[in-house]
Amino acid sequence: MKAKLDQIRQQVQEQIESCESTEKLNEIRVGILGKKGQLTELLKSMKDYAPEERPKVGQMVNEARAEIEKLLEEQKLRMEHAIREAKMKSEVIDVTLPASKSELGHRHPNTIALEEVERIFIGMGYEVVEGPEVEKDYYNFEALNIPADHPAKDEQDTFYVTGDILLRTQTSGVQVHEMEKGKLPIRMIAPGRVFRSDEVDATHSPCFHQIEGLVIDKNITFADLKGTLAEFAKELFGENTKVKFRPHHFPFTEPSAEMDVTCFKCGGSGCRFCKGSGWIEILGCGMVHPHVLEMSGVDPEKYTGFAFGVGLERIALLKYEIDDMRLLYENDIRFLRQF
Ligand code: DAH
Repeated sequence: MKAKLDQIRQQVQEQIESCESTEKLNEIRVGILGKKGQLTELLKSMKDYAPEERPKVGQMVNEARAEIEKLLEEQKLRMEHAIREAKMKSEVIDVTLPASKSELGHRHPNTIALEEVERIFIGMGYEVVEGPEVEKDYYNFEALNIPADHPAKDEQDTFYVTGDILLRTQTSGVQVHEMEKGKLPIRMIAPGRVFRSDEVDATHSPCFHQIEGLVIDKNITFADLKGTLAEFAKELFGENTKVKFRPHHFPFTEPSAEMDVTCFKCGGSGCRFCKGSGWIEILGCGMVHPHVLEMSGVDPEKYTGFAFGVGLERIALLKYEIDDMRLLYENDIRFLRQF
């Protein structure tokens, strides 16, 4: 019996010492001390011994049992300790390491310029509205006096979605949407994305932004247009800015003009920035064509109005003296941080 117990003890000790998981340890425990465990079986064989020997044998088995339980408990503690150590090691924080920096973003020059333009027009009582970027041919062309065979349709290389649906090439269609609402008078600006199938270069992008303006009321004249846009230019580029209107042509305005501002770099004397002319072109404008008013349900006998269209990127490039439009789309934080 003693030899048997020694053998079991020896074998169990080896098992316990090489055991690496608490599940395994539990298996060993059951295998020895469980209902069908080796020690339990030994106890059952007590009846084979002479009655006077039984207390001794019982004591030996109990001693072996206590010893194995102690071994199991010790191994359990060792394993728990090792797990805790490993965890502590992996969770160590080196407080002397530099903190990982989270990059802060920056407002885009387009956004800053747009907010400036919005501030100016809101100050003059205008509402800021938006129109759809995916537009019907009718709103982008037809209702703006640009019928199917009009050459202006070719000038603006259009992305078509289907035959009749397109990505708007200009924000001017928002004028039509606003007039169709039938609420007069109108004083609105409509900023937004426009799309043209242009190659990317320093001054072109297939996607850029415009800000449309529209005023419709009784007795609106070209003098209102001039006064409003001259005030806008002064607010945007400085008190000393002068404006000049050059006759131009847009299908949806009559008369039409382009507005130049005195170069804010040289004050009008001529420099590299304004290519020596002293003037910089910043927008297109005109009196809304009576036919356009009529098509959108506004009576041209009672109402007149003016409209204008500004390129947002153009404003941002001028205002912040950026010489390549592509920089505006790269979103390099080192570039953006400068504004
Ligand atoms: N939509 C014109 C363009 O894309 C810009 C423009 C010119 C808008 C004159 C206007 C305007 O409202 O009156 O080039």
